[in-house]
Amino acid sequence: MSRRVLLAAVPIALAVTVRLPAQAPTAPAAPQTALVKAGRLVDARAGAVLTNQAILIEGERIKELGPAGAVAGHAPPGAKVIDLSGATVLPGLIDCHTHITADPGDYYQQLFRQSPIDQAVVAHVFARRTLEAGFTTIRNVGADELVDVALRNAVNAGVVAGPRMLVSTMPLSATGGHGDVNGFSPYLRFEQLSGIANGVDEIRSKIRWEIKYGADLIKVLASAGVLSEEESVGAPQYSQEELNAVVQEAAMWGKKVAAHAHGAEAIKRAVRAGVASVEHGSLIDEEGIRLMKERGTYLVADIYNDDYILAEYTRLGYPQKIIDKERQVGRLQRENFKKAVQAGVKIAFGTDAGVYPHGWNAKQFAHMVRWGLTPMQAIQAATVNAADLLGWADRVGAIEPGKFADLIAVMGDPLQDVTVLEHVGFVMKGGAVVKDSLTTGAARAR
Ligand code: ARG
Repeated sequence: MSRRVLLAAVPIALAVTVRLPAQAPTAPAAPQTALVKAGRLVDARAGAVLTNQAILIEGERIKELGPAGAVAGHAPPGAKVIDLSGATVLPGLIDCHTHITADPGDYYQQLFRQSPIDQAVVAHVFARRTLEAGFTTIRNVGADELVDVALRNAVNAGVVAGPRMLVSTMPLSATGGHGDVNGFSPYLRFEQLSGIANGVDEIRSKIRWEIKYGADLIKVLASAGVLSEEESVGAPQYSQEELNAVVQEAAMWGKKVAAHAHGAEAIKRAVRAGVASVEHGSLIDEEGIRLMKERGTYLVADIYNDDYILAEYTRLGYPQKIIDKERQVGRLQRENFKKAVQAGVKIAFGTDAGVYPHGWNAKQFAHMVRWGLTPMQAIQAATVNAADLLGWADRVGAIEPGKFADLIAVMGDPLQDVTVLEHVGFVMKGGAVVKDSLTTGAARAR
């Protein structure tokens, strides 16, 4: 860009910045003070269920939590009462692995007939769906261009309804790796921003660029993947030296790293480099489990995903080699997840939503319980553990004074039947009710 063009663009940018808030539809005003009565309340940190509690909320934060009678006495006159005494109240859920800007669709259509512009237009719909499903915070680990940054900013500005977001922008990928477009003519080129970076120097400058333009964390593709046309799903795609550079560079800017890794060697390289979380973790071996446990690395395993991919992706036109790769890892990923759980590896909830429809995030709870977690541990994975992984333990993941008033409620007991989390009837984010089918007459009749 010439200097003249650059200068000319500045006033336009300023004008947009200044006008946006005035044009934005105003978000529903948070009640000044609210008293939420909770028949049952999941204390995710203690791993306990409390009965007959009340939560006093001031503005967007929790002020007090305790036995209903005592807390009610501290509510100022005129406080809005939200009666969930027939329901179970939990902290807002957190999904640590989403692709909020994309949803499942035809393979060739998405690759060749759409651009990041199409994603930018519809992403807010997925954000709302995710929020209404009870996920009040997400860590988005891969989007085209900078659509995730724009969406996060719009949510933060109150222009769009959606969860709190940490975003990675474009995953770092080796040429020919999981983040590249593989399998086509060498003359085919895409003019777009990308996360392709090879070697320590390119990796360092790509990370600087991503952080400059809004990344909250760095996502690196340490191994090959399923939904891309390169061979051998578990093969490492970055050297130890490159992964070390990823973590060191990100740390310099105060950012954590999430590493996509299916294969055993790639997982170990990522853990040794010091990533905060291993994503997928499908083919992890004993040594990898031991290393993760030693280093306190979180495992974020998308163990619902396989069901959807095997059911739908042939119909969506995905090449047979991709379906075959899914068959190689699907079952093993679940078995290895169980081994990691039994060994005491830290688990955070992450689904890969976007590979399957947004809003279905909670379907993974039942799988986590089937493959080794108790319902309480599964809930902890999606609350206190997830908040810890995100570096947001001071603001989300538990119902505690000082935290954001991010709450959900369900009918029934998720500790008996974790699938009730697939039917979240009440959602509050930052003290504002975004969904309520529980305190209405219709819900009471059930
Ligand atoms: N995004 C992941 C990849 O392409 C999806 C893996 C899905 N399969 C699974 N069993 N979790 O590698």
